[in-house]
Amino acid sequence: MHIIRQVTSDICWIGASDHRLSLFENIYPVPQGISYNAYLLKDEKTVLFDTVDAAVRQQFLENLKYALDERPLDYIVIHHMEPDHCAEIADLVRLYPEIKIVCNGQMQKMIEQFFSLNLPADKFIFVKEGDTLNTGRHTLHFIAAPMVHWPEVMMTYDTADKILFSADAFGTFGALNGNIFADEVDFEHFYLDEARRYYANIVGKYGPQVQNVLNKAAALDIRMICPLHGFIWRQNIEFYLQKYRQWSAYEPETEGVVIAYGSIYGNTYNTVALLAAELADAGVKNIRMYDVSVTHPSYIISDMFQYSTLVFAAPTYNGGIFVNMENLLRDLTAHNLQNRRIAVLDNGTWAAVAGKQMKEELAKLKNCVILESSLSLKSALKADQLPQIDALVKDIIAA
Ligand code: FEO
Repeated sequence: MHIIRQVTSDICWIGASDHRLSLFENIYPVPQGISYNAYLLKDEKTVLFDTVDAAVRQQFLENLKYALDERPLDYIVIHHMEPDHCAEIADLVRLYPEIKIVCNGQMQKMIEQFFSLNLPADKFIFVKEGDTLNTGRHTLHFIAAPMVHWPEVMMTYDTADKILFSADAFGTFGALNGNIFADEVDFEHFYLDEARRYYANIVGKYGPQVQNVLNKAAALDIRMICPLHGFIWRQNIEFYLQKYRQWSAYEPETEGVVIAYGSIYGNTYNTVALLAAELADAGVKNIRMYDVSVTHPSYIISDMFQYSTLVFAAPTYNGGIFVNMENLLRDLTAHNLQNRRIAVLDNGTWAAVAGKQMKEELAKLKNCVILESSLSLKSALKADQLPQIDALVKDIIAA
């Protein structure tokens, strides 16, 4: 059965959610599921904005058929060619032979790369930054958003209802459960953490490109944001724009310390647990501690985008960094985090190299300070090393 919600008088949401997916992009746990949003505009012309992931194909096609109500489908506007949004293009070309594909040249190449459809040139309407498409009451303005987070990405601004169709930007992990508007849920309590985890891990590497789009958006009167994942924003949009400004500038949102540790037999854990207790005694709030072998790196990276100070602690393993910590560090440096204070602790029973190698990897992060004070354990913390913990606490709170 179709499941549709009205967005405005002539735009409806015809997407679908997947509650059964365990790993989005086969990487990120999505315990609350994920939504794939598609929108249908019924003006003098009918316009579909994007499709959905293949996993929810049947629901989407049923929604689209019902929403069209026997009208032809005139256009599909493509905002992003990642397959979680474009998987049904071949279906649409087959089911709606009159359809024109509104996209840019990079998208046309990607359509061929993914689907080998060999579509004729007259199937496409090519658009670029600043181009418009009039559909009757609505005029769609196309905005290039390269590397947010793929090179071909476009957004659309509808001047009639002042809606920004924002592609992956402003999305969140988490399925839609009836409510499709952010103002229909307690977003800050129940979804902001997942929105941050989505941003940090999917888009986080591309802060300057996000800032570029935010600058373009600042010139527009935006009354509604329709992203490809998660909730539609029609109230308190400034709240979410401000989060994006902060995240894309790599500014910490909250004072606090994220401690990520790897510990094989508990000795490194014992040391960071003592450090955490002493930090708390010194008045530090918002201490978050993660065992890198237990918590998926996407959650830790998300917290590292939120908080101001980071501590890494891990043993040497196979002549290098304990493997789960190495994975976290490489993931973090790939995501380009900046503007943090960082402390490093390590452990090694013999031939310890983890501390040095961790610092080398962390040195790739721009505008970060790696604190002078650190601590190297030889198997376990010793009483004569307690002053080093005190020094570390002092250095961290000095920030
Ligand atoms: Fe939701 Fe980049 O795809």
